[in-house]
Amino acid sequence: LKLGVIIVAAGSGQRLGYGLPKAQVPLGGRTILEHALHGVVDSGVAERICVAVPAGDTALRRICARFPSPVPLNAVDGGATRSESVRRALAGIGGQPDAILVHDAARALTPPEVFRRVGRALAGGARAVVPAVAVVDTIKTAAPSSPDQQGIAPEKVSGTVDRALLRAVQTPQGFDAAILAEAHRKAAGVEPESVTDDAMLLEAAGEDVFLVQGSALSLKITTQLDLVVAEALLAGRQP
Ligand code: C5P
Repeated sequence: LKLGVIIVAAGSGQRLGYGLPKAQVPLGGRTILEHALHGVVDSGVAERICVAVPAGDTALRRICARFPSPVPLNAVDGGATRSESVRRALAGIGGQPDAILVHDAARALTPPEVFRRVGRALAGGARAVVPAVAVVDTIKTAAPSSPDQQGIAPEKVSGTVDRALLRAVQTPQGFDAAILAEAHRKAAGVEPESVTDDAMLLEAAGEDVFLVQGSALSLKITTQLDLVVAEALLAGRQP
């Protein structure tokens, strides 16, 4: 199975508050993008790699150009949304892979074994595979409280989801290349903002999406707290 890996690294990183695009932010002596690239390369699953960087970001393009990748590696300009960045990388990866893994650069410490696990499920015949972990929190849905209750609190609980059924999903998410391209072609320009991963597009198309074990190390670096945790993990300390 010829596997191509897309790394989406075109986010602004505003929530991290570092004043740099997130993929450029340093973590344990290298950038977030370099950590993500090492994870992909160390897994050995990729036959080629395409990175979506913020349009006009020469620093991240330079990192891609200099990265010692054993397989073809190129960068493309990302788009205004994550999905648009995926579409641009799909158009730019080349080499006609049979399957595509889409990975968030922000999940910089994802262990190579997770890439291999997703790759094995694809090789075993799955057309859509997502790494996931159990949810530890109790999750409730919220609704606005009625006007006469607003003085107490603006929201009230509208329900509690059965935690045993919940999974927090991560990346890399793996797909049959043709099915992923078709789902993205249909979604271009019409998808709602609530589309936050690629698997959602395949679920909407009626595809079976399979779950494999993810990892606590695949945390998505979003806030300054996440960066502290990631630094601690790299230093070999328990956060
Ligand atoms: O914004 P969010 O945290 O969901 O981003 C997840 C991943 O998608 C990040 O790695 C980010 O760089 C990437 N992204 C992108 N293009 C965008 C927005 C996000 O490549 N326009």
